[in-house]
Amino acid sequence: MTSASAPGKIILFGEHAVVYGRPALAVPVTQVHADVEVSDSSKDGIWIDAPDIDLHAELNSLPSDHPLAAVIHKFFASLSSPHFLKEKMGGQRGVEIKISSTIPVASGLGSGAAVSVALIRALSSHLGHPMTNEQVNALAYEIEKIHHGTPSGIDNTAVAYGKPVYFIKGQPMEIFKVGKPFTIVIGDTGISALTKESVGDVRRLWEADKQKWEKVFDKIGEIAKKAKEKIENGELIGDLMNQNHALLQDMTASSQELDQLVDAARTAGALGAKMSGGGRGGNMIALVKPEIAETVAGSLKEAGAKNTIITTINS
Ligand code: PMV
Repeated sequence: MTSASAPGKIILFGEHAVVYGRPALAVPVTQVHADVEVSDSSKDGIWIDAPDIDLHAELNSLPSDHPLAAVIHKFFASLSSPHFLKEKMGGQRGVEIKISSTIPVASGLGSGAAVSVALIRALSSHLGHPMTNEQVNALAYEIEKIHHGTPSGIDNTAVAYGKPVYFIKGQPMEIFKVGKPFTIVIGDTGISALTKESVGDVRRLWEADKQKWEKVFDKIGEIAKKAKEKIENGELIGDLMNQNHALLQDMTASSQELDQLVDAARTAGALGAKMSGGGRGGNMIALVKPEIAETVAGSLKEAGAKNTIITTINS
């Protein structure tokens, strides 16, 4: 049996503007993860067992654009001799692929990217050809493109490397150091929102007034750059989070529910708070002193959060 795991992620700064070439920061969230186990089976074929979504099926019985089937097909297609290896796995000896995840879906925690990364890692190791993080990341990005249209690639990068990343689309990613660990409370609105839609809406705004929105993206890029320096120096980033949230509100990426949670966190003593990811639903994040993390999490629940996670960000 071969197993692999991949963490969730949050975007600390720069979502949306990152699609337009500005820098963004993302960090892994290890409290939630996707896990994949691949084992040989006496049954012929490539069997997928994903109890979370009530799925137990042979690969070929699934439509080729099924999210899990798509990852496996892409994986085999990326190999130099896909047919031989596919037969090796599913022909003479069958395999069972067990997939589970504790990452909430469509909430900005990178669940799709984490499943892809864990699946690619487990399959490649099981075949005796483990892929490098770089190879896993490149393949996971191809899969993100199927689901999101024009993804920046930040999700798969943070998840594949499992480290804090400073990311600029199309450039080699940079892992950055956390000078002093800090505590983030994540609050989930419980509303699933499609990143594709908010990204499309921001694009429409940009198309209608490019000059205006390019300036907003520049401001966000500056915030992300400053935030990276501060994090490396062990300084606080609460103000920068508040500034970034205001700009995301301007571009209609936030929502009433997200704003309500952001306000609740600030009132409860957070040093700063913002929405995280595509927005409209999904998660917000708040920077807190560790000793008030539980209090802020409680206030978020009272303000309507369906779930909260307290996580420490470090290198
Ligand atoms: O909603 P998430 O966490 O998948 O984040 C999307 C981040 C965006 O910048 C909005 C889109 C992208 O592709 O980078």
